[in-house]
Amino acid sequence: MAEGTRGSRKRPEDLRSHRWYGVDDLRAFGHRSRMLQMGFSESDFRGKPVIGIINTWSELSPCHFHFRTRAEEVKRGVWQAGGFPVELPAHPVTEQYMKPTSMLYRNLLAMETEELARSQPCDGLVLLGGCDKTPPGLVMGALSAGLPFIFVPAGPMNSGSWRGKTLGSGSDAWKYHAELRAGTITPAQWKDMEGGMARSFGTCMTAGTAATMMLAVEAMGLTLPGASSIPAADSAHPRMATDSGKRIVEMVWDDETPAKLLSQGSIDNAVAATMAFGGSTNAIIHIIAMARRAGLELDLERFDAISRRVPLIANLRPNGDTYLMADFFFAGGSRAFLNRLSPHLDLSAKTVSGATLGEDIAGADVFNAEIIRPLDRPLQAEGGLAVLKGSLAPRGAVIKTSAADPRLLSHTGPAVVFENYADLKKRLDDPDLDVTADSVLVLRSAGPQGGPGMPEWGMMPIPQKLLKQGVRDMVRLSDARMSGTSYGTCVLHVAPESHVGGPLALVREGDLIRLDVPNRKLDLLVEEAELARRQAAWQAPTRRYARGWTSMYLDQVTQADVGCDLRFLEAGEATPEPDIY
Ligand code: FES
Repeated sequence: MAEGTRGSRKRPEDLRSHRWYGVDDLRAFGHRSRMLQMGFSESDFRGKPVIGIINTWSELSPCHFHFRTRAEEVKRGVWQAGGFPVELPAHPVTEQYMKPTSMLYRNLLAMETEELARSQPCDGLVLLGGCDKTPPGLVMGALSAGLPFIFVPAGPMNSGSWRGKTLGSGSDAWKYHAELRAGTITPAQWKDMEGGMARSFGTCMTAGTAATMMLAVEAMGLTLPGASSIPAADSAHPRMATDSGKRIVEMVWDDETPAKLLSQGSIDNAVAATMAFGGSTNAIIHIIAMARRAGLELDLERFDAISRRVPLIANLRPNGDTYLMADFFFAGGSRAFLNRLSPHLDLSAKTVSGATLGEDIAGADVFNAEIIRPLDRPLQAEGGLAVLKGSLAPRGAVIKTSAADPRLLSHTGPAVVFENYADLKKRLDDPDLDVTADSVLVLRSAGPQGGPGMPEWGMMPIPQKLLKQGVRDMVRLSDARMSGTSYGTCVLHVAPESHVGGPLALVREGDLIRLDVPNRKLDLLVEEAELARRQAAWQAPTRRYARGWTSMYLDQVTQADVGCDLRFLEAGEATPEPDIY
């Protein structure tokens, strides 16, 4: 592993923690005395980089269930390198359990990470995360804190298996639930599948949001090389954690802050990796939010431009039929994947290894060209995501083309409108619902404010009567997000959202909607004068949340096209260090 720039190495008295532990005043007396209280000796912590290990472990976070152990393994590396590790528990932001949606809490984790780093005597950070919102939440906060940091990805769980069939997280739950509703599997079989779906700690093991975000953070240069694809239960995972602990100590001495590390190339690399991976649509929101925290450029147009030039080369579910993240790892993993993608990457971008991305991935071989395809034999010629604009989405919408039925990518059909998710649940399976396979299902009140928190409702179920006719995909449209493990022709993130009066709020039953992915267009085929009449008559919904975090979130959250950050966190000067310790 390369070492940093020795010429600019810090001295112990330059460390941020020196103001807590190294000076001789009344406050420092108290700080040292309280460390002794916990059984540490002065030689354990004085004059050493203090490394905050921000740990999102919880018994309600199955994806992070190994993080108690991994934190100890990070500490082992920190001790070996001459640092002082301290564990700081943080909000677990778990995908499975948080209601109404984990996305409501991504920014809370970001704010907590920043404030933990700032208020405590940290010189550097190791971030333990992986479940969907935790990579962006932790990285956003750490970028704003400005201290050197390394991200340790949780890694994917073992592959699922049931009655000889391989099961993929999320994707197969959606698939078999549709079969249950269609009557092709029994309730007992469905129940039996529960035990086969998630077979170890770790994140979802399809190419969903977690795998996408861990890869994107690696491509940004913020993990050790190859870290993002190591399965959580593989013995390489604790070794990676220990190496991260060792490396962060060097980064502190060399003052390798994110401001010195990240460039526009780092951000573009994250986007290119996401596109070639056929990654989750959620990545668009998260990478934009991270870029803006770093003060770098990224908008939907840049996303689409990169998508058009980068082929999709990762043959993983839900884009492909067969392979899961463990297969990807044994096919060469993220280093081999990025090496294949080299012509589309800025190889001069720096990484936390102390080297460049090009140096990190040099020589990484692909061992299975069916899983990590060559650039000239991709799964899809363009990246898996497309950005749409038009009269229905003036500030943009997105679609995961790689998980959609190609027949539906150019489609015009009449709207079937649901006012909110409760309305959808109530009426979707009504035998009298006026819907055909050509209809466009429209869901509103599911955006950043309307959800609130932009829940993953975008993959609306197919109405039962169509399922029974054999329909398995149709055009669906909303201001919601969808899970990275979902699939189908789902147009998402429509901005501005319906809750703030975007055109989605004006769609009426039977209006024709035209989806034209080749030309990146999404239009409501209603006369402008009629739309103006509907706009004038539109009334803003009553606000339902008056207290706590949700109230603060609603006051501050931005729209999907700019990352759904909070306005008062997304930019501006760093908060100054305190004058008084
Ligand atoms: Fe945590 Fe899918 S539920 S990664």
